[in-house]
Amino acid sequence: MRLQSFFIAALLLVSSTVFAQNKITAHTDSAKTKINRDIYGHFAEHLGRCIYDGFYVGDTSLIDNIKGFRVDVIDALQEMNIPLLRWPGGCFADTYNWKDGVGSKKIRPSIVNVHWGGVTEDNSFGTHEFMDFCELIGAEAYINLNVGSGSVREAKEWVEYMTSPNKSPMTEWRKENGRDEPWKVKYWGIGNENWGCGGNMTPEYYADLYRNYATYCHGADYKIAGGANVADYNWTEVMMKKLVHHKHIVDGLSLHYYVHPGGWSNKGSATEFDEAEYHLTLQKALYMEELINNHSAIMDKYDPNKEIDMIVDEWGSWYDVEPGTNPGFLFQQNTLRDALCAGMQLNMFNNHADRIKMANIAQMVNVIQAVILTKGETMVLTPTYYVFKMYSVHQDATLVPLSIECDDYEVGGEKLPVLHASASTKDGKLNLTVCNLDPNNDVEFEYDILGEKYTKASGQIIGGEKINSLNEFGKEEEVTLKQFSLKQPKKGKLKLKIPAKSVVLISLEK
Ligand code: AHR
Repeated sequence: MRLQSFFIAALLLVSSTVFAQNKITAHTDSAKTKINRDIYGHFAEHLGRCIYDGFYVGDTSLIDNIKGFRVDVIDALQEMNIPLLRWPGGCFADTYNWKDGVGSKKIRPSIVNVHWGGVTEDNSFGTHEFMDFCELIGAEAYINLNVGSGSVREAKEWVEYMTSPNKSPMTEWRKENGRDEPWKVKYWGIGNENWGCGGNMTPEYYADLYRNYATYCHGADYKIAGGANVADYNWTEVMMKKLVHHKHIVDGLSLHYYVHPGGWSNKGSATEFDEAEYHLTLQKALYMEELINNHSAIMDKYDPNKEIDMIVDEWGSWYDVEPGTNPGFLFQQNTLRDALCAGMQLNMFNNHADRIKMANIAQMVNVIQAVILTKGETMVLTPTYYVFKMYSVHQDATLVPLSIECDDYEVGGEKLPVLHASASTKDGKLNLTVCNLDPNNDVEFEYDILGEKYTKASGQIIGGEKINSLNEFGKEEEVTLKQFSLKQPKKGKLKLKIPAKSVVLISLEK
């Protein structure tokens, strides 16, 4: 009987583990590029329940808050080590008049949020509230100016209001509104998706307009031009051609790409999907690599010294809204599948750290691929949250190039590499983050660290029972971050077995 169960256990082990010659090699001797921590940035738009009823509940709320900001959300974001927050949009940015959102809340005008559900925007969250929140969570600010429906003067005055130490009508107004010292705003975006919701412009027209705006935004140190939608390579080509001789007014060019397994008009459910759809979603996440390579090649042609950065200031998995919720609010759950999508894309951003200096997942709370969901007093940390927490070891670390040899994970003739990884070194540690995309099989591989003598290994894992495992309000978490035990390295090598559908961190020390 015991022998029989031993055989069954052995058979199960063989059928659920891929034992081929998979190998990851870390080239520590070629480590030189810094991974800018702002690759781990976030995005909060005036959209649905991201800001209001998300992290901002107002100071009269019964929910525990500091200056109207939820304490539980602040704590979770600090623990995730959030470096940067983009605001106020998105599409909303190109309808926003910043002057509506400063001064006494009693007289701030209410407007219609035309892009997102036509709801009333009472402007109770504005510039001062945003900067207070950044300070509370320890994040740098990234402000997106209005090009679509604003004016050069409005943009210029906003920059002056926020950053100028001098005496002017704007800075006096700032002081009247309770802020004496100028703020430090790290990044400024000049327009958003100006090929679409930001004005339906041609790249030629937008590039000229960008030059005009950027010229007058004195005090905006780091300026970001609105970039391409997905694979619109012509947009990047025209922008680079028209901006390359004006490097003093452009620091970054953005790129937006969302993963929609079912396409734009029928995106698919966030929680109900089969293995074929899971595979397709990961394939679409991997498409980010092709986009980065192709847009980078165009940028390299005009800017071989990489003086203009690539800024992926919107990315994430975007599905149909949860049944019964406002379609304009983009509220969706998020599962283990999204943890893998996030892990892969963050690996890609790390691996391209020579060109990519910032990225912002959309969006921080309750919208699209959120790291946090809220309902009344309760809060859920999503699988994506745990990926950001795990990957925070890469912030400001030095990228270690990898070579990966591995099997394919194949569904219906479509193939994906079963392993996806990136590595970096910081404070004497070598950190490898690796995703096993195969939902059915553990993967065994050799981890070969060239030229370094690491002796201690420790690990963490994000996994779950099913590809659609998720964290639900009021229930025990199905997907979370746990310790992962491993063998210790011998002669610069480590044998590893990574469970099916998991994201793993391997940390090595000397
Ligand atoms: O993140 C949601 C929306 O997606 C943003 O407002 C817009 O920039 C993009 O199309």
